[in-house]
Amino acid sequence: MKIGKLSLLLAAALASTSALAQTYTLDIDLKKPGAPIQETMYGIFFEDINYAADGGLYAELVKNRSFEFPADPLQGWKAFGKVEVREDGPFARNPHYVRLQDPGHPHKWTGLDNEGFFGIGVRKGETYRFSVWARVPGGGCSTLRVELVNTASMGENHFLCQEELAVSGREWKKYQLLLSPDTTLEKSALRIFLTGERTPVDLEHVSLFPADTWMGHENGLRKDLAQALADLKPGIFRFPGGCIVEGTDLATRYNWKNSVGPVENRPLNENRWEYTFPHRFYPDYYQSYGLGFFEFFQLSEEIGAEPLPILSCGLACQFQNENPAAHCPVDELQPFIQDALDLIEFANGPADSPWGAVRASMGHPEPFGMKFLGIGNEQWDSLYPEHLEPFLKAIRAAHPEIKVVGSSGPDSEGKQFDYLWPEMKRLKADLVDEHFYRPYDWFLSQGARYDNYDRKGPKVFAGEYACHARGRKYNHAYASLLEAAFMTGLERNADVVHMATYAPLFAHVEGWQWRPDLIWYDNLRSFRTVSWHVQQLYGQFRGRNTLTLKMAGANVTGAEGQGGLFASAVLDGDKVYVKVVNTSEEARTVNLNFTGLKKKAFLKGAGGMRLVCDQLYEDNTLDQPHRIEPAAFAFEGEGKQLEAGVPALSFSIFVLERQ
Ligand code: AHR
Repeated sequence: MKIGKLSLLLAAALASTSALAQTYTLDIDLKKPGAPIQETMYGIFFEDINYAADGGLYAELVKNRSFEFPADPLQGWKAFGKVEVREDGPFARNPHYVRLQDPGHPHKWTGLDNEGFFGIGVRKGETYRFSVWARVPGGGCSTLRVELVNTASMGENHFLCQEELAVSGREWKKYQLLLSPDTTLEKSALRIFLTGERTPVDLEHVSLFPADTWMGHENGLRKDLAQALADLKPGIFRFPGGCIVEGTDLATRYNWKNSVGPVENRPLNENRWEYTFPHRFYPDYYQSYGLGFFEFFQLSEEIGAEPLPILSCGLACQFQNENPAAHCPVDELQPFIQDALDLIEFANGPADSPWGAVRASMGHPEPFGMKFLGIGNEQWDSLYPEHLEPFLKAIRAAHPEIKVVGSSGPDSEGKQFDYLWPEMKRLKADLVDEHFYRPYDWFLSQGARYDNYDRKGPKVFAGEYACHARGRKYNHAYASLLEAAFMTGLERNADVVHMATYAPLFAHVEGWQWRPDLIWYDNLRSFRTVSWHVQQLYGQFRGRNTLTLKMAGANVTGAEGQGGLFASAVLDGDKVYVKVVNTSEEARTVNLNFTGLKKKAFLKGAGGMRLVCDQLYEDNTLDQPHRIEPAAFAFEGEGKQLEAGVPALSFSIFVLERQ
């Protein structure tokens, strides 16, 4: 027989053997628990991109509430009658305000409409808190009528509700009233009329919030969106970005000190996502800083996650600046370093320290207990270590208890990554932030990414990642499945990977710059994507220790011969969670084979959760928010070996109890 024929026969024999050998045995060693899985392992990355803050999580419904948008102080407003913009207002860092005056004829009107963020979404039966700083410049009293209106209405009235507000005296004071619309409307507008005697009145910081915010805070967050964060059971909460940490120029970097204290006096900042993509340009995208560092720390606490602020290292966005003059020279970094030291005091200092007192004045005398701080986002070249080093020295000297997160640049591998990792080791960063927005084949090939990482160096923070399919850069179930597959490798390597956060987090359906994202919304509704469910399953079944899981002696990383399977296992007290991701288009049978058990010990199946992603290119939507979700499945039986089916294109978590 010729060699060619023999090899053909052999190949056929092997193929038929593997066709018969449908059971993939996963050996799970229970002899002793492996590395602890950090509580910070799975978490949240927040950045104000895609209208994630103003127009999103931050529940303020009025756009340009302080009349500070630089191109036009009345951007977002429609003024009618006699409205004058003035700039000697009561809040030094937001000096503009408006003066409403008699229009000059009893049948004419003076006032303003605010368009909100893609409209103002309101619900019948809910209450909205309108507030405004006001004064009567000539003394005496003035009356305002405040309405929520539907200017597209075919009904008799435009207004959904209306109330009157009496303003009195020459002093600036804060006034409030409650509005209760009689209709649910995604795109209403706020209307303010000067009425009564039409006595001139000055208005500043015009605000409207739902009364029912997350945890009832007045300067609060949208409840459904904050709940979607809490439901992830996150262990770490990174804020405020992303690229906005760096700024297109240093002047417009996220400046945490401007984001604390009374909201009326937090100055407006530019948002780089306004103009970063000219094909999705949003000329009205600014940061009010209403959702600022106090609110971020408070939210971290309320959702049970460790706060992880990221600060500028004195480098403006390197994608946007080739001129070295854009950056702060190393020998002039002191103000930036002081910002970092002051932030530690703001978060952790006693209530009578200068920055601790600011925190206390905002309602949180107890320290927030911050443990981690990131310096720099996607930085590169020698510029980055040169800038990072003085921060590290100063933070180490004053606060050795703080763990500092450095960066490995914008790429998952390559020149900068290979340069920066050794630099981070040299500088002894505690964690290194890695970013990867990568296609299918990258995710399929990276199951073993961390298996050979140096165990003695800094720990890994997979700080931004998402599967971005070529030609399908939108949320879809197959991409989420590959994220789940990749995450088995994070979990298996929990001794070196201490944090992981999908990015970006939020997107308004009418205001996005970047896809895919974890949670989408319009003004009234929101939905959780399939990727959200993947993250949630990992958060819920995090476990406390890793367990060794192998297939024929090898880690299960989707390698050749492993049937497209990725798998990992963890221990949670007496429970074992086995995660199996089947990326193939065929159902598989797995044999969960537990080793290292005492003679009489065994495992008992206690059900499981499964996410089937066979609607490959579909996802949940505003209209069908529950289309693709995990479901519980029955998983029973007992013994040292348990067999189970794994559907094609699915992510299963098997729960077992040690007996
Ligand atoms: O998540 C969107 C952007 O991606 C982040 O701002 C940046 O860090 C990365 O390039």
